[in-house]
Amino acid sequence: MREPSAVQEPVIVAASPRMIELRGLARRAAQTDATVLITGESGVGKDLLARALHVDSARARYPFVAVNCAGMAETLLESELFGHTRGSFTGAHRDHVGKLQSADHGTLFLDEVGEMSERMQALLLRFLENRELQPVGSTRAPLIVDVRLVAATNRSLPERVAAGMFREDLLYRLRVIELHVPPLRERRDDIGALIEHFSRADGRRVTFSPEATVALLGYRWPGNVRELQNVIAQASWLADGGTIELRHLPEPVRENRSGALVRTQERRRQVADQLFESLVARECSFWDEVHPLFISRDITRHDLRELLKRGLEATHGNYRALLRLFGLPSSDYHRLHNFLAAHDCKVDYRRFRVGVAGNLTEHATPAH
Ligand SMILES: Nc1ncnc2c1ncn2[C@@H]1O[C@H](COP(=O)(O)OP(=O)(O)OP(=O)(O)O)[C@@H](O)[C@H]1O
Ligand SMILES: [Mg+2]
Repeated sequence: MREPSAVQEPVIVAASPRMIELRGLARRAAQTDATVLITGESGVGKDLLARALHVDSARARYPFVAVNCAGMAETLLESELFGHTRGSFTGAHRDHVGKLQSADHGTLFLDEVGEMSERMQALLLRFLENRELQPVGSTRAPLIVDVRLVAATNRSLPERVAAGMFREDLLYRLRVIELHVPPLRERRDDIGALIEHFSRADGRRVTFSPEATVALLGYRWPGNVRELQNVIAQASWLADGGTIELRHLPEPVRENRSGALVRTQERRRQVADQLFESLVARECSFWDEVHPLFISRDITRHDLRELLKRGLEATHGNYRALLRLFGLPSSDYHRLHNFLAAHDCKVDYRRFRVGVAGNLTEHATPAH
């Protein structure tokens, strides 16, 4: 018998109807062996949900193994997942058991799965199809492993598929069940319950002044639950066991930036989001709809820039992939650049390449 896994029972605080429903769905999903894809912005609780899926499942006594696919060189990720045999490459001094094998009978959590290189996507797909494991350099018969796969991403995989950066067949394999965790601002009923939860976390019961409570409840929480957790921890420390006052909260929360600036930014984001989604879904065309809207000034230069930023974000700063994503033929490359330059709407693609995992830079280089 194996050692019981060290994963603690995760507490998922849920007060909003959407979160209560999601927690219920996750409990049902835990009873199956189906591959689960967890999506949602950074800090919403994807890790937590993945652990809950494991702990609530029949696999709970076996390992929960997490692998982060971002920022790891392709070859390293391959041997991390599949293992390698001694001498299979320089520096491979001994056999290395891959994470898929360590997770046998348990759950493998593939975090930031959207960052996988093309080759790794192909290897993962093959594994999902036959559940066979061939360590790098091994000539033995492949191992069969029994692993439940849970993947997570804070990117939109359908957008990455549209941009030609993620395999559609892999997306379907991963998304047998999809659990989407909404951002905290879309489930505001959870804010109070989470404050309560985190303010009890260090054992002593913290209290809040009415002004501090109003600021915390009204804030937009762009960093989601992680930001809230950090703010409470920091404020508790600053208040040193006393009441948390407004002055103990960070400036953005204190000022509760819900003024005109935020509203304008929000509107701009909404316009860009709508256009972006319509373009990606091929419900509208860039030249037939977006372009005339801009010329007639129904959308502003800022809106257009925001739209491009979203596209460049999805494509890691690759204008050619952006054309594909927006349903434009590659022959429109110069036409688009000329149009953007003429109206001072160009967005510098380089800032979207910063922090890109090494294995993706090949995609980021425009193909000529
Ligand atoms: N519903 C919740 N109840 C209690 N704690 C939560 C909840 N959601 C998130 N948390 C806590 O918030 C923190 C951030 O959550 P988590 O790490 O799971 O986010 P994530 O979606 O994986 O973020 P990232 O995309 O950056 O990896 C963790 O400490 C987690 O335990
Ligand atoms: Mg995470």
